[in-house]
Amino acid sequence: MTSAHSRVSFSGIKPSGEVHLGNYIGAVKQWVTFQENMKPGDVLIFPIVDLHAITVPFEPLELRERLVDLVCWLMASGLDPKKVIMFVQSENPDHPYLAWLFNCITPMGWLERMTQYKDKARVQGQRVSVGLFDYPSLMAADILLYDTHDVPVGEDQKQHVELARNIAERFNRLYGQTFQVPNVVLKQEGARLMSLQDPTKKMSKSDEDKAGCILLKDDADTIRQKIKRAVTDSGNEIHAGKDKPALTNLMVIYSEFSGKSLQEIEALYQGKGYNEFKLDLAEIVVEGFAPVQEKYRALKKDQAAVGRALSDGLKNARAISSEKIKQVQKAMGLEK
Ligand code: AMP
Ligand code: TRP
Repeated sequence: MTSAHSRVSFSGIKPSGEVHLGNYIGAVKQWVTFQENMKPGDVLIFPIVDLHAITVPFEPLELRERLVDLVCWLMASGLDPKKVIMFVQSENPDHPYLAWLFNCITPMGWLERMTQYKDKARVQGQRVSVGLFDYPSLMAADILLYDTHDVPVGEDQKQHVELARNIAERFNRLYGQTFQVPNVVLKQEGARLMSLQDPTKKMSKSDEDKAGCILLKDDADTIRQKIKRAVTDSGNEIHAGKDKPALTNLMVIYSEFSGKSLQEIEALYQGKGYNEFKLDLAEIVVEGFAPVQEKYRALKKDQAAVGRALSDGLKNARAISSEKIKQVQKAMGLEK
Protein backbone atom coordinates (compact mmCIF):
# COMPACT_ATOMS: atom_id res chain seq x y z
CA MET A 1 0.00 0.00 0.00
CA THR A 2 1.24 3.53 -0.69
CA SER A 3 1.47 5.77 2.38
CA ALA A 4 0.91 9.51 2.50
CA HIS A 5 4.66 10.13 2.25
CA SER A 6 5.59 7.67 -0.44
CA ARG A 7 6.55 8.77 -3.92
CA VAL A 8 5.28 6.53 -6.69
CA SER A 9 7.04 6.11 -10.04
CA PHE A 10 5.39 4.14 -12.81
CA SER A 11 6.27 3.19 -16.37
CA GLY A 12 5.33 0.40 -18.77
CA ILE A 13 6.89 -1.37 -21.71
CA LYS A 14 5.17 -3.33 -24.47
CA PRO A 15 6.06 -6.98 -25.19
CA SER A 16 6.19 -6.34 -28.91
CA GLY A 17 9.34 -6.84 -30.93
CA GLU A 18 12.79 -7.06 -29.44
CA VAL A 19 14.15 -4.71 -26.75
CA HIS A 20 16.50 -2.18 -28.36
CA LEU A 21 19.01 0.43 -27.39
CA GLY A 22 16.35 3.20 -27.51
CA ASN A 23 14.23 1.36 -24.92
CA TYR A 24 17.31 0.67 -22.86
CA ILE A 25 18.71 4.21 -22.80
CA GLY A 26 15.44 6.17 -22.94
CA ALA A 27 13.55 4.10 -20.39
CA VAL A 28 14.99 0.99 -18.74
CA LYS A 29 18.32 2.49 -17.66
CA GLN A 30 16.40 5.40 -16.17
CA TRP A 31 14.22 2.98 -14.20
CA VAL A 32 17.32 1.27 -12.82
CA THR A 33 18.62 4.67 -11.66
CA PHE A 34 15.27 5.30 -9.94
CA GLN A 35 15.71 1.96 -8.16
CA GLU A 36 19.24 2.88 -7.09
CA ASN A 37 18.04 6.20 -5.67
CA MET A 38 14.96 4.77 -3.97
CA LYS A 39 14.14 6.13 -0.50
CA PRO A 40 12.19 4.24 2.18
CA GLY A 41 8.50 4.40 1.32
CA ASP A 42 9.06 4.96 -2.41
CA VAL A 43 7.15 2.65 -4.73
CA LEU A 44 8.36 1.76 -8.23
CA ILE A 45 5.99 -0.01 -10.62
CA PHE A 46 7.04 -1.30 -14.06
CA PRO A 47 4.40 -3.50 -15.72
CA ILE A 48 4.61 -5.32 -19.04
CA VAL A 49 1.76 -3.68 -20.93
CA ASP A 50 0.44 -6.49 -23.13
CA LEU A 51 -2.98 -4.86 -23.54
CA HIS A 52 -1.20 -2.04 -25.31
CA ALA A 53 0.78 -4.47 -27.47
CA ILE A 54 -2.42 -5.98 -28.94
CA THR A 55 -3.69 -2.64 -30.32
CA VAL A 56 -1.79 -3.44 -33.53
CA PRO A 57 -1.75 -6.81 -35.37
CA PHE A 58 0.15 -9.44 -33.34
CA GLU A 59 0.87 -13.16 -33.21
CA PRO A 60 -0.89 -14.88 -30.23
CA LEU A 61 1.67 -17.68 -30.02
CA GLU A 62 4.47 -15.16 -29.67
CA LEU A 63 2.87 -12.88 -27.10
CA ARG A 64 3.59 -14.86 -23.91
CA GLU A 65 7.06 -15.80 -25.09
CA ARG A 66 7.94 -12.17 -25.78
CA LEU A 67 6.52 -11.18 -22.44
CA VAL A 68 8.67 -13.62 -20.46
CA ASP A 69 11.65 -12.66 -22.57
CA LEU A 70 11.09 -8.98 -21.79
CA VAL A 71 10.95 -9.65 -18.04
CA CYS A 72 14.30 -11.46 -18.36
CA TRP A 73 15.78 -8.42 -20.12
CA LEU A 74 14.41 -6.03 -17.49
CA MET A 75 15.85 -8.11 -14.64
CA ALA A 76 19.14 -8.58 -16.50
CA SER A 77 19.35 -4.80 -16.93
CA GLY A 78 19.25 -4.43 -13.16
CA LEU A 79 15.61 -4.23 -12.06
CA ASP A 80 15.20 -6.22 -8.85
CA PRO A 81 11.70 -7.68 -8.32
CA LYS A 82 12.31 -7.53 -4.56
CA LYS A 83 12.55 -3.75 -4.84
CA VAL A 84 10.19 -2.90 -7.71
CA ILE A 85 6.76 -4.15 -8.70
CA MET A 86 6.73 -5.94 -12.06
CA PHE A 87 3.54 -7.55 -13.33
CA VAL A 88 1.52 -8.30 -16.45
CA GLN A 89 -1.03 -5.57 -17.18
CA SER A 90 -3.68 -7.97 -18.59
CA GLU A 91 -3.65 -9.91 -15.30
CA ASN A 92 -4.93 -6.88 -13.40
CA PRO A 93 -8.50 -6.16 -14.59
CA ASP A 94 -8.51 -2.83 -12.74
CA HIS A 95 -6.61 -1.34 -15.70
CA PRO A 96 -9.18 -1.86 -18.48
CA TYR A 97 -11.99 -1.15 -15.99
CA LEU A 98 -10.63 2.30 -15.17
CA ALA A 99 -9.84 2.90 -18.86
CA TRP A 100 -13.55 2.44 -19.62
CA LEU A 101 -14.53 4.97 -16.99
CA PHE A 102 -11.99 7.38 -18.46
CA ASN A 103 -13.43 6.78 -21.95
CA CYS A 104 -16.66 8.24 -20.66
CA ILE A 105 -15.09 11.53 -19.53
CA THR A 106 -12.48 11.98 -22.27
CA PRO A 107 -13.51 14.13 -25.26
CA MET A 108 -12.84 12.53 -28.67
CA GLY A 109 -10.87 15.63 -29.62
CA TRP A 110 -8.25 14.93 -26.97
CA LEU A 111 -7.51 11.50 -28.45
CA GLU A 112 -7.73 12.73 -32.04
CA ARG A 113 -4.85 15.07 -31.33
CA MET A 114 -2.42 12.29 -30.29
CA THR A 115 0.46 12.26 -32.77
CA GLN A 116 1.31 8.58 -32.24
CA TYR A 117 -2.23 7.61 -33.22
CA LYS A 118 -2.24 9.96 -36.19
CA ASP A 119 1.07 8.56 -37.46
CA LYS A 120 -0.04 4.93 -37.15
CA ALA A 121 -3.54 5.61 -38.50
CA ARG A 122 -2.02 7.24 -41.56
CA VAL A 123 -0.26 3.95 -42.34
CA GLN A 124 -3.11 1.60 -41.37
CA GLY A 125 -6.04 3.58 -42.82
CA GLN A 126 -9.53 2.16 -42.10
CA ARG A 127 -8.02 -1.00 -40.58
CA VAL A 128 -6.79 0.96 -37.58
CA SER A 129 -8.30 -0.52 -34.39
CA VAL A 130 -10.51 1.27 -31.89
CA GLY A 131 -8.00 0.00 -29.32
CA LEU A 132 -5.20 1.97 -30.93
CA PHE A 133 -7.32 5.12 -30.82
CA ASP A 134 -8.14 4.46 -27.17
CA TYR A 135 -4.55 3.51 -26.23
CA PRO A 136 -3.87 6.75 -24.28
CA SER A 137 -6.98 6.26 -22.13
CA LEU A 138 -5.68 2.83 -21.02
CA MET A 139 -2.27 4.36 -20.45
CA ALA A 140 -3.86 7.07 -18.26
CA ALA A 141 -5.59 4.30 -16.28
CA ASP A 142 -2.26 2.48 -15.82
CA ILE A 143 -0.64 5.59 -14.41
CA LEU A 144 -3.49 7.05 -12.34
CA LEU A 145 -4.50 3.77 -10.63
CA TYR A 146 -1.38 3.97 -8.45
CA ASP A 147 -1.43 7.71 -7.60
CA THR A 148 1.77 8.03 -9.60
CA HIS A 149 3.96 11.11 -9.16
CA ASP A 150 6.66 10.41 -11.76
CA VAL A 151 6.49 8.69 -15.15
CA PRO A 152 9.99 8.06 -16.56
CA VAL A 153 9.62 7.48 -20.31
CA GLY A 154 11.19 8.28 -23.67
CA GLU A 155 10.21 11.50 -25.40
CA ASP A 156 7.67 9.80 -27.69
CA GLN A 157 5.43 9.19 -24.66
CA LYS A 158 5.37 12.76 -23.37
CA GLN A 159 2.10 13.65 -25.06
CA HIS A 160 0.41 10.55 -23.62
CA VAL A 161 1.51 11.42 -20.08
CA GLU A 162 0.23 14.96 -20.57
CA LEU A 163 -3.11 13.49 -21.59
CA ALA A 164 -3.11 11.43 -18.38
CA ARG A 165 -2.60 14.69 -16.47
CA ASN A 166 -5.56 16.24 -18.28
CA ILE A 167 -7.76 13.23 -17.53
CA ALA A 168 -6.77 13.31 -13.83
CA GLU A 169 -7.58 17.01 -13.59
CA ARG A 170 -10.89 16.59 -15.39
CA PHE A 171 -11.94 13.66 -13.19
CA ASN A 172 -10.98 15.57 -10.04
CA ARG A 173 -13.02 18.56 -11.21
CA LEU A 174 -16.08 16.49 -12.13
CA TYR A 175 -16.20 14.02 -9.23
CA GLY A 176 -13.98 15.42 -6.48
CA GLN A 177 -10.27 15.05 -5.66
CA THR A 178 -9.42 11.42 -6.51
CA PHE A 179 -6.22 11.25 -8.56
CA GLN A 180 -2.66 12.43 -8.13
CA VAL A 181 -1.64 14.47 -11.20
CA PRO A 182 1.53 12.80 -12.59
CA ASN A 183 4.72 14.37 -14.00
CA VAL A 184 6.58 13.16 -17.04
CA VAL A 185 10.29 12.51 -16.39
CA LEU A 186 12.56 12.68 -19.44
CA LYS A 187 16.31 12.21 -19.61
CA GLN A 188 18.22 15.28 -20.70
CA GLU A 189 20.08 13.27 -23.32
CA GLY A 190 18.90 9.97 -24.78
CA ALA A 191 15.15 10.57 -24.37
CA ARG A 192 14.90 10.18 -28.12
CA LEU A 193 17.55 7.94 -29.59
CA MET A 194 17.53 8.09 -33.37
CA SER A 195 18.01 5.38 -36.02
CA LEU A 196 21.66 4.74 -36.86
CA GLN A 197 20.65 4.80 -40.52
CA ASP A 198 18.50 7.95 -40.46
CA PRO A 199 18.94 10.57 -37.72
CA THR A 200 15.53 12.08 -38.54
CA LYS A 201 13.73 8.88 -37.45
CA LYS A 202 13.63 7.51 -33.90
CA MET A 203 15.24 4.15 -33.24
CA SER A 204 12.37 1.71 -33.30
CA LYS A 205 11.75 -2.03 -33.25
CA SER A 206 9.32 -1.70 -36.14
CA ASP A 207 12.02 -0.04 -38.25
CA GLU A 208 12.25 -1.85 -41.59
CA ASP A 209 15.93 -1.02 -41.66
CA LYS A 210 17.31 -3.39 -39.04
CA ALA A 211 20.77 -1.84 -39.36
CA GLY A 212 19.46 1.34 -37.73
CA CYS A 213 18.46 -0.36 -34.50
CA ILE A 214 20.79 -2.09 -32.02
CA LEU A 215 19.03 -4.89 -30.14
CA LEU A 216 19.95 -5.91 -26.61
CA LYS A 217 20.39 -9.45 -27.90
CA ASP A 218 22.80 -8.47 -30.73
CA ASP A 219 26.14 -10.27 -30.52
CA ALA A 220 29.45 -8.38 -30.48
CA ASP A 221 30.03 -8.62 -34.22
CA THR A 222 26.52 -7.46 -35.10
CA ILE A 223 26.94 -4.44 -32.81
CA ARG A 224 30.32 -3.63 -34.38
CA GLN A 225 28.83 -3.90 -37.89
CA LYS A 226 25.84 -1.68 -37.09
CA ILE A 227 28.03 1.02 -35.56
CA LYS A 228 30.54 0.83 -38.38
CA ARG A 229 27.74 1.22 -40.95
CA ALA A 230 25.99 4.01 -39.01
CA VAL A 231 25.55 7.15 -41.12
CA THR A 232 27.59 10.22 -40.16
CA ASP A 233 27.41 13.89 -41.07
CA SER A 234 29.67 15.92 -43.33
CA GLY A 235 32.99 17.00 -41.88
CA ASN A 236 35.26 14.82 -39.81
CA GLU A 237 35.63 16.38 -36.38
CA ILE A 238 33.89 14.99 -33.28
CA HIS A 239 31.53 17.62 -31.96
CA ALA A 240 27.89 17.55 -30.89
CA GLY A 241 25.32 19.96 -32.26
CA LYS A 242 22.27 20.51 -34.44
CA ASP A 243 24.48 20.55 -37.54
CA LYS A 244 25.65 16.99 -36.74
CA PRO A 245 22.51 15.02 -35.80
CA ALA A 246 23.88 11.57 -36.72
CA LEU A 247 27.15 12.03 -34.85
CA THR A 248 25.43 13.63 -31.86
CA ASN A 249 23.20 10.56 -31.62
CA LEU A 250 26.29 8.31 -31.54
CA MET A 251 27.91 10.59 -28.95
CA VAL A 252 24.83 10.30 -26.72
CA ILE A 253 25.21 6.50 -26.84
CA TYR A 254 28.91 6.86 -26.00
CA SER A 255 28.04 9.16 -23.12
CA GLU A 256 25.41 6.77 -21.72
CA PHE A 257 27.81 3.84 -21.64
CA SER A 258 30.95 5.68 -20.52
CA GLY A 259 29.47 8.18 -18.07
CA LYS A 260 31.39 10.96 -19.88
CA SER A 261 29.65 14.19 -20.86
CA LEU A 262 29.41 15.24 -24.53
CA GLN A 263 32.03 17.94 -23.87
CA GLU A 264 34.41 15.38 -22.37
CA ILE A 265 33.97 13.18 -25.41
CA GLU A 266 34.69 16.13 -27.73
CA ALA A 267 37.89 16.84 -25.83
CA LEU A 268 38.90 13.19 -25.89
CA TYR A 269 38.55 13.00 -29.68
CA GLN A 270 40.02 16.35 -30.60
CA GLY A 271 42.08 15.89 -33.77
CA LYS A 272 40.75 12.36 -34.24
CA GLY A 273 38.28 11.25 -36.89
CA TYR A 274 34.96 9.40 -37.18
CA ASN A 275 36.60 6.02 -37.69
CA GLU A 276 38.50 5.98 -34.45
CA PHE A 277 35.45 7.27 -32.57
CA LYS A 278 33.21 4.57 -34.05
CA LEU A 279 35.66 1.77 -33.30
CA ASP A 280 35.85 2.87 -29.64
CA LEU A 281 32.09 3.33 -29.41
CA ALA A 282 31.49 -0.21 -30.67
CA GLU A 283 33.77 -1.65 -27.99
CA ILE A 284 32.13 0.42 -25.26
CA VAL A 285 28.66 -0.82 -26.25
CA VAL A 286 29.84 -4.44 -26.59
CA GLU A 287 31.40 -4.27 -23.11
CA GLY A 288 28.38 -2.50 -21.64
CA PHE A 289 26.01 -5.17 -22.98
CA ALA A 290 28.14 -8.19 -22.03
CA PRO A 291 27.10 -8.46 -18.35
CA VAL A 292 23.44 -7.77 -19.24
CA GLN A 293 23.47 -10.49 -21.88
CA GLU A 294 25.12 -12.92 -19.50
CA LYS A 295 22.49 -12.31 -16.80
CA TYR A 296 19.77 -12.63 -19.45
CA ARG A 297 21.02 -16.07 -20.50
CA ALA A 298 21.02 -17.22 -16.86
CA LEU A 299 17.49 -15.91 -16.27
CA LYS A 300 16.18 -17.64 -19.39
CA LYS A 301 17.12 -20.91 -17.69
CA ASP A 302 15.42 -19.87 -14.44
CA GLN A 303 11.80 -19.39 -15.48
CA ALA A 304 10.70 -19.98 -11.89
CA ALA A 305 12.36 -16.71 -10.87
CA VAL A 306 10.43 -14.87 -13.57
CA GLY A 307 7.15 -16.51 -12.53
CA ARG A 308 7.74 -15.56 -8.91
CA ALA A 309 8.57 -11.96 -9.78
CA LEU A 310 5.35 -11.60 -11.78
CA SER A 311 3.05 -13.23 -9.23
CA ASP A 312 4.48 -11.22 -6.31
CA GLY A 313 4.27 -8.11 -8.46
CA LEU A 314 0.64 -8.75 -9.37
CA LYS A 315 -0.34 -9.21 -5.72
CA ASN A 316 1.34 -5.95 -4.73
CA ALA A 317 -0.11 -4.05 -7.68
CA ARG A 318 -3.65 -5.24 -7.00
CA ALA A 319 -3.39 -4.30 -3.33
CA ILE A 320 -2.94 -0.68 -4.45
CA SER A 321 -5.19 -0.56 -7.52
CA SER A 322 -8.22 -2.26 -5.95
CA GLU A 323 -8.35 0.42 -3.23
CA LYS A 324 -8.22 3.11 -5.89
CA ILE A 325 -11.05 1.48 -7.83
CA LYS A 326 -13.24 1.52 -4.71
CA GLN A 327 -12.54 5.23 -4.29
CA VAL A 328 -13.39 5.89 -7.95
CA GLN A 329 -16.60 3.89 -7.79
CA LYS A 330 -17.67 5.87 -4.76
CA ALA A 331 -16.84 9.19 -6.44
CA MET A 332 -18.85 8.25 -9.56
CA GLY A 333 -21.81 6.72 -7.74
CA LEU A 334 -21.01 3.19 -8.95
CA GLU A 335 -20.67 1.57 -5.54
CA LYS A 336 -23.13 -1.01 -4.22
P1 AMP B 1 7.80 0.57 -26.06
O1 AMP B 1 8.82 -0.39 -26.50
O2 AMP B 1 7.17 1.34 -27.18
O3 AMP B 1 6.83 -0.01 -25.10
O4 AMP B 1 8.61 1.69 -25.26
C1 AMP B 1 9.16 1.46 -23.98
C2 AMP B 1 9.90 2.70 -23.52
O5 AMP B 1 11.03 2.96 -24.35
C3 AMP B 1 9.05 3.99 -23.55
O6 AMP B 1 9.32 4.76 -22.38
C4 AMP B 1 9.54 4.70 -24.78
O7 AMP B 1 9.38 6.09 -24.70
C5 AMP B 1 11.02 4.32 -24.78
N1 AMP B 1 11.60 4.41 -26.13
C6 AMP B 1 11.23 3.70 -27.23
N2 AMP B 1 11.97 4.06 -28.31
C7 AMP B 1 12.84 5.01 -27.88
C8 AMP B 1 13.89 5.76 -28.50
N3 AMP B 1 14.18 5.60 -29.80
N4 AMP B 1 14.59 6.65 -27.74
C9 AMP B 1 14.31 6.80 -26.43
N5 AMP B 1 13.34 6.12 -25.77
C10 AMP B 1 12.61 5.24 -26.47
N1 TRP C 1 2.73 3.62 -24.34
C1 TRP C 1 3.99 3.29 -23.72
C2 TRP C 1 5.03 3.01 -24.83
O1 TRP C 1 4.70 2.73 -25.94
C3 TRP C 1 3.89 2.10 -22.81
C4 TRP C 1 3.02 2.38 -21.63
C5 TRP C 1 1.77 1.87 -21.39
C6 TRP C 1 3.32 3.24 -20.54
N2 TRP C 1 1.28 2.33 -20.20
C7 TRP C 1 2.20 3.18 -19.66
C8 TRP C 1 4.41 4.05 -20.23
C9 TRP C 1 2.15 3.94 -18.49
C10 TRP C 1 4.35 4.81 -19.06
C11 TRP C 1 3.24 4.74 -18.19
O2 TRP C 1 6.17 3.05 -24.57
